[in-house]
Amino acid sequence: MPRHLITSALPYANGPIHFGHVAGAYLPADVYARYLRLTGEEVLYVCGTDEHGVAITLKAEQEGLGYREYVDRWHDEIKGLFDRFQISFDHWSGTARCSQHAEASRRFFRILLDRGYIFDRTEDQWFSSTLDRFLPDRYLQGTCPACGFDQARGDECPQCGSWIEARELKNPICTLDGSTPELRATKHWYIDLPKLQKEGLQAWYASEDSSRPHGPWKPNVDGYVQAMLRDLHARPITRDLPWGIPVPEELEGSEGKVLYVWFDAPIGYVSATMEWAEQKGTPEAWSEWWQDENTQLTHFIGKDNIAFHVVVFPSMLLGLGNAWENKRFQLPHNVPANEFYNLQGRKFNTTAGWYLDNEHFFSQYSADAARFYLLNSLPETSDSEFSWEGFQIANNALLADKLGNFASRVLKFNAKRFGSLVPESDGSLDTDTDLQTADSRLAAIGTHIAAFEFRKAVAAMMDGCDALNQFFDAHAPWKLIKSSDQVNQARCRAVLERCLAYLELISRRMSPLCPAAADRLQQMLGDAAGPTTWGNETANQPPARLTAGTALGEADVLFKKIDDDTIAAEIARLEDIVA
Ligand code: 2FM
Ligand code: ZN
Repeated sequence: MPRHLITSALPYANGPIHFGHVAGAYLPADVYARYLRLTGEEVLYVCGTDEHGVAITLKAEQEGLGYREYVDRWHDEIKGLFDRFQISFDHWSGTARCSQHAEASRRFFRILLDRGYIFDRTEDQWFSSTLDRFLPDRYLQGTCPACGFDQARGDECPQCGSWIEARELKNPICTLDGSTPELRATKHWYIDLPKLQKEGLQAWYASEDSSRPHGPWKPNVDGYVQAMLRDLHARPITRDLPWGIPVPEELEGSEGKVLYVWFDAPIGYVSATMEWAEQKGTPEAWSEWWQDENTQLTHFIGKDNIAFHVVVFPSMLLGLGNAWENKRFQLPHNVPANEFYNLQGRKFNTTAGWYLDNEHFFSQYSADAARFYLLNSLPETSDSEFSWEGFQIANNALLADKLGNFASRVLKFNAKRFGSLVPESDGSLDTDTDLQTADSRLAAIGTHIAAFEFRKAVAAMMDGCDALNQFFDAHAPWKLIKSSDQVNQARCRAVLERCLAYLELISRRMSPLCPAAADRLQQMLGDAAGPTTWGNETANQPPARLTAGTALGEADVLFKKIDDDTIAAEIARLEDIVA
């Protein structure tokens, strides 16, 4: 049985995250992890904040805060939103707080250097004497050497689209303070991606054989990576910055230099696993998750992170060879990247206020409703969005009318007519065609989750509920119960027994999607523990505890409906922001 190591992109500790992030990289990973855990697979789901980089350095300085103090604030704040969504990380860390991270990062660097995959080069770079620092490309503005546009950025020209080599920018100014920078020679280290491509990355990426099982890559991932692999360049992996993981000090010219944030961030997945293992009292156990062929590594990310997870990080892992304790690292099994998720027709923009306020949202609506709607509208193949109207429809017409309604009518009827005890069935309905449809649709939920098709998983759950509502309507137990015919009475008991068995099955199948509602449904079915296994059985082999005579719990509303006025008020709140 494979071991599943699951990661979600480490969010920058540099501002709030929003529902768009949750939909892109966290909720799908959580559903996948929850599903695999229920099926009895071994799962480790790690994440944490990405706490280095020039953007964080500058923001902390602007706010007059120490770097660590600044990232600590966002580390906690960001975790708050994940908790609201019930994202079930097994370990939550951060690249500046994880005590194994700096050494692990430097070890990656040293091995890659020793094995000839990192080289150094000294080049001119813009230096600000007023700020006493080298300037990252994005903080430069000047005249485009290609078209003469005078507001080109240090990395690209918005007018002609040219990719700009910063030192070729004419008349540059520093966008931080308007000063004129000067060119100064500085040494940096580069990762030789073309060499890694030739020596393994290309073959790994293209392989479909059982010796290196991965994928199939999603089309959006494949299109991007194929283009990138046609024109791969060496990339600088060090920076002149006061905050980050220092370049190994034994290297000449390393003073004042740190590892590029995109070099150390993915190593954060490894160091978070080391920290998890250490905290469990088995420090060596991290290696089973990274250096064992039995591990399946899955990175959940948004589309802007594809290059680093499918090209750069796998290259780094490949480049280590077996130099780390004589063992090789596993490469990703899959990277099911999502496209972008917007809000009501625009991109989320927390600075401009175009986002959903977490406090307000979760004071009004449940995590289950939010999870369900996001899953139902995930940007799996193209950009998609959160709209309040869509949220209302998903909550009312799907969750409440299909699933909640089935649970409510079955449990209420059973309470009234059978005293909340599971009725005895004569088995006469076990092969009913509606139930067979429900079986196959509910069984598809797991298949879809395993294939990263979360929208289809949600649709399968709704189809299953449709078939069950149809079964209930077709047999009309409210008529059967009133009949003096013993055959009809027996039929009524058989209908209810089947409905209860299927409700129990639903509670397990919905558990990865809407975990809190699944727990509540189990409680209504008399089990305080909530779903603990996925189970292979269909409802035709219900768990022993729902045999005839079992006492059920109290029926309650699973999903509250949201009225039109509430939705109109939410839309008005957003519109006020752009007014
Ligand atoms: O795009 C981002 O938010 C990055 N902080 C993601 C890093 S993912 C990983 F490599 F750590
Ligand atoms: Zn230009």
